[in-house]
Amino acid sequence: MTKNGDYIDLNSFNDKRGTLISMEQGSEIPFEIKRVYFLTNLNSNPRGFHAHKNLKQVMICISGSCEILLDDGQNKLLRTLSSPSKGLYIDSYVWREMKNFKDNALIVVLASEIYDESDYIRDYNDFLDYGNDK
Ligand code: TYD
Repeated sequence: MTKNGDYIDLNSFNDKRGTLISMEQGSEIPFEIKRVYFLTNLNSNPRGFHAHKNLKQVMICISGSCEILLDDGQNKLLRTLSSPSKGLYIDSYVWREMKNFKDNALIVVLASEIYDESDYIRDYNDFLDYGNDK
């Protein structure tokens, strides 16, 4: 079973024309994909600083690189994404901070739910309290 912070190997097809990378729900992606979004024009400002109550995501840095801190309230993991053929699985109830975007980082995010602001926990202390109340 895919766990929070796991890297996911995507399918990579290389030939003289270049590289094609694919992923499918139910094999590489461990949830039904309901939404896809991109992060582009990234700069020195970190992003994220929230957790989700239910949402699960796979993040792929298809160009450049970035770092992602994942914090489940007890353990912190620092992950680097620098390959278009590697995804990063982010479970629900995980605080994330994305930073150190390099070389025009372009990030694709696959999400298990449609956008829902009420699913966000944007305050770190609320995040810790939410975990204690669970
Ligand atoms: P936000 O979640 O704050 O970005 P980050 O995850 O990088 O911290 O989202 C930025 C804005 O985009 C915010 O106004 C909400 C909006 N948004 C959508 O409308 N749909 C989406 O799918 C997402 C991810 C964000």
